[in-house]
Amino acid sequence: MTVKVLGISGSPRRHGNTETLLDAVLDGAREAGGEVEKIVLRSLEYASCRGCNACHKTGVCVIKDDLTEVFTKIGDADVLVLASPIYSMGITAEAKGLIDRAQYLWARKFILKTLYHTPDRTRRHKGIFVSTAGLGWENVFDAAFPAITAFFNTTGFEYWDNVIANDLDRYGGIAGHPTALAEARKKGRDVVNLLADIEDPGIAKT
Ligand SMILES: Cc1cc2nc3c(=O)[nH]c(=O)nc-3n(C[C@H](O)[C@H](O)[C@H](O)COP(=O)(O)O)c2cc1C
Repeated sequence: MTVKVLGISGSPRRHGNTETLLDAVLDGAREAGGEVEKIVLRSLEYASCRGCNACHKTGVCVIKDDLTEVFTKIGDADVLVLASPIYSMGITAEAKGLIDRAQYLWARKFILKTLYHTPDRTRRHKGIFVSTAGLGWENVFDAAFPAITAFFNTTGFEYWDNVIANDLDRYGGIAGHPTALAEARKKGRDVVNLLADIEDPGIAKT
């Protein structure tokens, strides 16, 4: 059974530190036999959530744009790898824009109660957060984690692990980091190997 891995880059900078680290995870996943696709948010056209709350009644987002298809792909993925650099101690606007647009799924789960991710399904769907930061502070990623946790919960992925590298100002970028790229590649291999051994219980119950 093929493991589908979807990488989403939320960095506005093409082929910078964060997308390079994401690519290492995806390369590892490909090496282990995963079917890999990458989406770059800055190349898409999409709007922010309007907070109209129409989805509370319909379970559907009123906005139809490039994210509509992205959410279909998220629904089909076994592994979701969301990447964002740290901007102003949080995630980028690109990544947050995506996360807020998942509100229609939140509405299906908690208001309409038409979507339920079984524990078996969630166990078979892993989320990985990839991030980079300039500063050497130990806590530099802390403000990002809650939004990522919320996103993986809403979309039905178990928050499996982080692939994070900080102090990049000192290292002169991700290429200068002593271990991050090799660890990222290994993580990509590991998650595909792990899921290849777990039977897919199918889609979410609706
Ligand atoms: C607008 C902006 C805000 C940033 N804010 C922070 C920050 O708050 N803390 C930090 O450690 N690094 C910060 N950085 C540095 C980036 O997190 C770091 O250079 C990261 O590796 C960039 O990833 P990229 O190459 O994918 O753009 C900021 C960079 C930019 C452009």
